[in-house]
This record gives sequence, C-alpha cells and structure tokens, in this order.
Amino acid sequence: MRKRIIVANWKMNKTPKESLELVELLKEKVDTEEYDVVFCVPFVDLIPVASALEGTHIMLGAQNVHYEDFGPYTGEISAPMLKEIGCTHVIIGHSERRAHFNETDHTVNQKIFQTVNHDLTPIVCVGEDLEQRKNNIIIEQIRMQIKRALKNVSFEDVSKTMFAYEPLWAIGTGMSASPEQAQEVCHAIRQVLAEMYDHETANTIRILYGGSVTGKNCAELFAMKDIDGGLVGGSSLKEDFAKIVGCK
Ligand code: 13P
Repeated sequence: MRKRIIVANWKMNKTPKESLELVELLKEKVDTEEYDVVFCVPFVDLIPVASALEGTHIMLGAQNVHYEDFGPYTGEISAPMLKEIGCTHVIIGHSERRAHFNETDHTVNQKIFQTVNHDLTPIVCVGEDLEQRKNNIIIEQIRMQIKRALKNVSFEDVSKTMFAYEPLWAIGTGMSASPEQAQEVCHAIRQVLAEMYDHETANTIRILYGGSVTGKNCAELFAMKDIDGGLVGGSSLKEDFAKIVGCK
C-alpha cells in the first residue's frame, strides 16, 4: 500500500517573513501522520520554515538542486547544503525549470543520481504540452522523459524516487486534467517503470498528479488507482491546502 503524499510547491512566492505567516496558518491543519506532507519552499525560506516545522510531521523540500556537491557554479545550491538544513525532498525537472532554465532530461538524470546519493527523495516531474496533447503524443512524450531521466539508474536507486505527472496545460490555468486523463498517464508511468525494472518495484513507487489541484477536485483525482497524491502550486499558498491534505 502506497502512502499518499501531498507536496506543496510554493514556486517563487513568499519572502522569509511571509513564509512564516503561511506556515503558521497551515501547520496545525496539515500536520498528520496519515499522509506524507512536504513543503517545497524557496531556498531563502528553507531555514526559517525548517525551524517553524520542528515538532511536526511536515517534511521540507527544495524546488531544485545542482548535480555537483560543490564548486564554481555561481548561484546554485547543492544537495549537501539542502541535506544539512533538514530537507528530505527535492522537485526535479519541473516544467517551469525546463522552459526557463535549460533543465533537460539529461540534467534531470544527473540530479536523480545526486539526490539519491545524498539521501534526498527526488520528485521527478514529467508532462506534455497542449500541442502534444492535441497531436495525441502524450504517452510517447512521457515514456521518453522517464526513460531518459532514469538512464543507468539502478533498481535500488529507482525505488528511492517518486514521479509527478504535470500536464503543462493544467499548470496554473485552473483547468485540471480530468481524473481519467490523469489516471491514464499515471498508469503509463507505472507501466514504463515496470518495463524498465519490474512490477514489484513499479508498484512501490509513488506517482503524483499536479496541475490546478484544489480542495474541490482533489477527492476524485486521489481516488484513481495510480495517483498517490498531489503536487500543488497555487492552492498550496492558501487555506485550501488544508482541504487538499484532509481530502477523503
Ligand atoms: P498549480 O497547482 O498552480 O496549477 O501548479 C501546479 C504545479 O506546477 C506544481 O508543481
């Protein structure tokens, strides 16, 4: 049985001061052992949010990481830095990073190695854009992203990863994928994992859906067989996030 996980992706929102206000608003409402809950916050918010979350079950994540431990990479943040301040998760390959910051399937692959080597859980994002959906090359696109992301990743390491299906056309648009659309792709992700590894391994890996998840649509999305939780953007910045975490 895969435990549900709800991941907040704050994206580039909330100053350190504001981050504490948001944590105060949400922390009691989303502190649960029933599901895993992770706050992926901007780098400068990580240390204050880590302190504010002490004594709760809520975990801390980053939204990106570099693939080297240290060195001449101005502006970057390393896995050892994240680990030392208490991060457990890192979002990798978000479509916004692919679109604006040259993230590729190759760098996603490097970052998967880097995170698992440092005992951080990568949340690997994949998804098709509207053009690809219109041309019905959804599953091909997803399969290719997964295969490239997992190049040379061992059985042992793949079981330390999780995936998020985020169709680009659903992100920040208020137009979520339907539960059936999301299930179809999440199932395809599990299938490609089973082909590359085996069914047992594929069945333990958690696959999330992201893209306009709200307190209103979460129940039907999370009821789908291959959807193990949500990666939540806009709704994670307000009280609605508590509804998503409490979603039955
Ligand atoms: P929204 O929930 O705002 O659509 O964002 C989804 C997302 O990109 C989470 O990573």
